[in-house]
Amino acid sequence: MTAEIISGRVIGNQIREELTAEVTKLKEEHNITPGLAVVLVGEDPASVSYVTAKGRACESAGVFEETIRLPADTPEQEILDLVEKLNDDDRFHGILVQLPLPKHVNEEKVLLKIDPDKDVDGFHPMNVGRMVVGKPTFLPCTPHGIQELLMRSGNGPEGKHVVIVGRSNIVGKPMMNILVQKAVGANATVSVCHTRTKDMAAITRQADIIIVAAGVPEMITADMVSDGVVVIDVGVNRVGMKPSIKTPGKMVADLRGDVDFEGVKEKASFITPVPGGVGPMTITMLLKNTVESAKKTIQ
Ligand code: GUN
Repeated sequence: MTAEIISGRVIGNQIREELTAEVTKLKEEHNITPGLAVVLVGEDPASVSYVTAKGRACESAGVFEETIRLPADTPEQEILDLVEKLNDDDRFHGILVQLPLPKHVNEEKVLLKIDPDKDVDGFHPMNVGRMVVGKPTFLPCTPHGIQELLMRSGNGPEGKHVVIVGRSNIVGKPMMNILVQKAVGANATVSVCHTRTKDMAAITRQADIIIVAAGVPEMITADMVSDGVVVIDVGVNRVGMKPSIKTPGKMVADLRGDVDFEGVKEKASFITPVPGGVGPMTITMLLKNTVESAKKTIQ
C-alpha cells in the first residue's frame, strides 16, 4: 500500500476561503475587521519565519494584523505592560505572544496576562481548563488543525485508537484532551507515549491513527506501525541546508518530520508530508480563532 497524502495546503486553503468570505461579511454587515496582534521577542529564526507566515496569512484573508517586534533583552515588565495595552486595544480581537520567550522572561506570567477573551492561541490557563472539561473555548491551533485534517480527509477519530507521541503543552497534551471529549470529531481512545514510555513500538503498532510531535527527526519507522495506519507528522526538524527550488542560487533549510516518510508511506493508508502537512493548518486555525473572537463582539 502507498499512502494517500493529506495536504495541509489544500485543506488549509479550503478553510481560508471560508474564512475570507466570513471576514467580508463581518466588514459589510457589521463594520468589524478582525484584528490580530503578534508579539515577537528576539530573532529566533524559526519564530521569525512563523510570525512572517502568520502576517501574510492574515493579510490574504483580510484580517488586520500588527506584529510588535521587541529586542531579545526586553525586560519582562515591558512585555507585560505591552500585553495589557493590547488587551485594552479594540482593534485587536486576538493576541499571540510567540513562544518560546527568552530565558529571562517568565512565560507563564505573560500568558496569564493575556485577556482570555483574546487568547487565540488557547494557552491561558482558563482556556486550557475549559478545553479539558469540554466547554467551548479557543482551542490551541496545532491540535485543532490536526482534528480538521483528520475530519476533512475522511479519517474522523470516532472510536479509533489514537496514539500520540509527545506530551508538550502546545501539541501532545491539548491533542489528547481534544480527542478524548464526548463530541463530534473526537470520541477517540487515546494513548500518549513519551520519552519514558517502555517499548513504544508495541503501543504505536496498536494505533489506527498516530500523531507524532516528538521533535526527533524520523523517529517513527515502518517497523513501528501497522498496515493501514493514518499518520500525522507534526515534526519540523532543520537537518541541514539544500538549494532552494523557488529561488535558484539560494540555500534553504532542509526540513524533516518526526516520521520516516519514505518507509512509513508504504504501510500507511494516509500520511501528512513535511512541509505542507500540519504547518499550514496551525496558521489557518489561528485565523479561524481570530475571526471567531471578532464575531463574539457582535451585540
Ligand atoms: N511556538 C510554536 N508554536 C506556537 C504556537 O502555536 N503559538 C505560539 N504563540 N508560539 C508558538
